[in-house]
Amino acid sequence: MTLRIADLHAVEILDSRARPTLAVTLTAEDGTRVRAGVPAGASTGTREAVELRDGDAERYGGQGVLGAVGHVNGEIARALTGRDVGSPADVDRALLELDGTDTKSRLGANAVVGVSLAVWRAAAVLAGRELWQYIADVAGTRPWLPVPHFNVVNGGAHAANDLDFQEFMLAPLGAPSLPEAVRAGAEVYARLKSRLAAEGFATGLGDEGGFAPAVSRPEDVLDLLVESIADAGRVPGREGVAIALDPAASEFRAPDGRYRVAGESLTGDQLIARYEEIVDRYPVWSIEDGLAEDDWDGWVRLTARLGHRAQIMGDDIFVTNPAIIAAAIGRKIANSALIKVNQIGTVTETLDAMRLCRDAGYTQMVSHRSGETDDSFIADLAVGTGCGQLKSGAPARGERIAKYNRLLEIAETHPELPFGLADV
Ligand code: PGA
Ligand code: ZN
Repeated sequence: MTLRIADLHAVEILDSRARPTLAVTLTAEDGTRVRAGVPAGASTGTREAVELRDGDAERYGGQGVLGAVGHVNGEIARALTGRDVGSPADVDRALLELDGTDTKSRLGANAVVGVSLAVWRAAAVLAGRELWQYIADVAGTRPWLPVPHFNVVNGGAHAANDLDFQEFMLAPLGAPSLPEAVRAGAEVYARLKSRLAAEGFATGLGDEGGFAPAVSRPEDVLDLLVESIADAGRVPGREGVAIALDPAASEFRAPDGRYRVAGESLTGDQLIARYEEIVDRYPVWSIEDGLAEDDWDGWVRLTARLGHRAQIMGDDIFVTNPAIIAAAIGRKIANSALIKVNQIGTVTETLDAMRLCRDAGYTQMVSHRSGETDDSFIADLAVGTGCGQLKSGAPARGERIAKYNRLLEIAETHPELPFGLADV
């Protein structure tokens, strides 16, 4: 049965950082209505799809999105009304053609991604499938509950402290089930808060709900984490709770090409050596954006040196872009990719990037952005594609929790789903 898009309507709402973003509502001709919220990054890769901001300094410091909203309600709605809701990949293609740029900069990647998310959600509803089931049907993947990665200490562009590394995540790799993994994350988070308070640190939060203590050396944070994991009665390491890092190194690379970490100025090779020491001393199982996005030669060396011992993941360097990922695979850069729908702009292109990674034996982690809404689409994306990993910030704050709670709901209603890292 063909059901058509009857209406698309966007409004300007606020994201979790009080910056404007879009919510897009799609109405199908049978009256079915779905809504999607658009996330936004702070430490964005330079090759990401380009979001449209109004630039009117009188409104939200230039961050308004009324232009993007106008594109959804005008040009996009006119072009897509009457199209088959059951063919979201065709709708994505139509969106790309309508935009006409490589970067979605004309209509705005924020407008495009809002529409794409809404169309896929509507397609699932009309097919009578859960969103994750629908994604698995289309992608031909095996549904799987991912290991949540809880970002419990925030630095870099996400916090006002002096910590150069952006994210310190708890990865309950040893948990026997998704609910037990969520419990582990929340219990260690609580212990970390007590420990920080006991040691005289402020327990205020960064943008992703993690603590933002006045610490600058990454090793000092890792000590705190290992102690907190033990405080919670758990084993630090792959059998219990491991740690994943996202230094987001593009943000602390100086114009001279060196990396500034806790007051030191390191060459790329010195930073790689620092990561080796970290992996030796701490239960760090994954390092995302260990080097800057344009330091491809450094990435080759980083992967050669550590790729057999740790997950080496590209975020800013890959920006979920199939062409860039293909080039990087060819150069043996990284062994894993972070996946963010709004970096590339449509769900279809995101699934293309994920297929490319699967075929190359690269692991994947689906990711939120530092600016979020309560939309939990990415939880379904992670489950449906069976990628085995999801990061959505700390086990705190509504916009982060929405994703973890959606995982819990899926786990509860579908106990047959396996849980853990995916086989690659
Ligand atoms: P962003 O950060 O959403 O601010 O870009 C997330 C990340 O770097 O993984
Ligand atoms: Zn990142």
